[in-house]
Amino acid sequence: MDISDKKVYIETLGCQMNKSDTERILGILSHFGYCPCKDENEADLCIVNTCSIRQLSEDKAYSKLGVWGKMKKEKPLKVGICGCVAQQEKERLLKRFPYVDLVFGTQNIYELPELIQKEGRVCAVREKPVREADFNIIRAQNLNAWLPIIEGCNNFCSYCVVPYTRGRERSREVETILNEARNILKQGFREITLLGQNVDSYGKDLPDKPSLAYLLRELDSLEGKFRIRFTTSYPTDITDELIETVKNASKICECFHIPMQSGSDRILKAMNRRYDRNRYAQIVKKIRDNIKNVTITSDFIAGFPGETDEDFEMTLSAFDDFELDYSNTAAYSPRPNTPAAKMTDKFLDEDEKKRRLAILNEKVKEMSLRSNQKYLDCELEVLVESFKNGKFEGRTRNNKVVHLTGENISTGDFVNVKITKASIWCLFGEKTN
Ligand code: SAH
Ligand code: SF4
Ligand code: F3S
Repeated sequence: MDISDKKVYIETLGCQMNKSDTERILGILSHFGYCPCKDENEADLCIVNTCSIRQLSEDKAYSKLGVWGKMKKEKPLKVGICGCVAQQEKERLLKRFPYVDLVFGTQNIYELPELIQKEGRVCAVREKPVREADFNIIRAQNLNAWLPIIEGCNNFCSYCVVPYTRGRERSREVETILNEARNILKQGFREITLLGQNVDSYGKDLPDKPSLAYLLRELDSLEGKFRIRFTTSYPTDITDELIETVKNASKICECFHIPMQSGSDRILKAMNRRYDRNRYAQIVKKIRDNIKNVTITSDFIAGFPGETDEDFEMTLSAFDDFELDYSNTAAYSPRPNTPAAKMTDKFLDEDEKKRRLAILNEKVKEMSLRSNQKYLDCELEVLVESFKNGKFEGRTRNNKVVHLTGENISTGDFVNVKITKASIWCLFGEKTN
């Protein structure tokens, strides 16, 4: 492959971890003469960074490959596939898609320099990760920077493919993370979001066993005005130390993303989640009792195998009981290698899953509006993130989107805003300072 002054386009599907991986892949490729482009039609190399969480996500990757397969008939083009589907499907992808040139897994990113220089079609999928190396990172051009602190998952929830596509938990060293944070701040970012499939497990595999709370305090003590967020939390792994730290540290935002997955104890057990409704309730209460204006969000799955109407009702009532501010939702999708995919005799039919998902989504809207209305007439700090259609848009510390008006506003500013109106998905307000 000729590797001078070429253009690479990456289509990123899936979670923030994938977005962060794409930034690293672009950075590595920049050392080898590839600059990123925003239009796939201009690219010499097109890569899809895939997600395997549901069949729908996997199918999206294949349809993207199909588009590029057609483009390749018209002009020279290299086609690559990486991420969670690549990790799962390996060589099968080369067989199934004859126009694919490069397949690499989630553990092979730092091996890319060798891979892109190889002749012929290449497939590299490792089970154990290649050691991290010091390359550029080409971050998305906004005010928030993703910072992975732990990768992989040891939880093996019965429906989930992530432990198979991302491997076991691996924490990055505190110093590595702090250095990356310092670089991020030097580049002018105003917000850092710490990423991990389960951030509360941070440090358990490192020699000194630094906790997430410790890492957060170290980051909080870095100089400058900026915000820190972290996601995702596993309910029972949230410690008192973490709650205290979020309460006391000035830069850490008051948000917890704590997926509950189901409101029914029976289903939680079948999902292999290590808590029941009662335990979840205690954790939420502890957070709310300690942290003012905190936002608590969740993920729920509709139609897990064997879910009865009563189980589903328990999920709906969980929203009210725990006053959840927002939730991601999905219909259950059977995934390769997972125990739940073998419970075929308990599968719900597609229409029933869709029906439950629609009800769930209505509930999320109702909760989101209720949550937003709590802030009417309040004054909140907003980080101004963009200017779109003549309106400034930003977010509060507790992660509410705010459309704001007022004098002397620029993107990147922290401003105080009096909330005047609340809708389902955002707040409206006037700058006061
Ligand atoms: N680590 C996080 C999130 C992982 S994946 C956690 O533990 O919560 C993001 C979300 O996708 C999950 O929270 C779950 O709600 C959903 N999900 C995972 N596997 C799924 C499946 N097989 N079908 C439907 N939704 C699924
Ligand atoms: Fe998947 Fe469960 Fe791990 Fe989350 S905690 S990534 S849902 S196995
Ligand atoms: Fe998807 Fe992999 Fe993330 S399966 S949700 S891209 S960890």
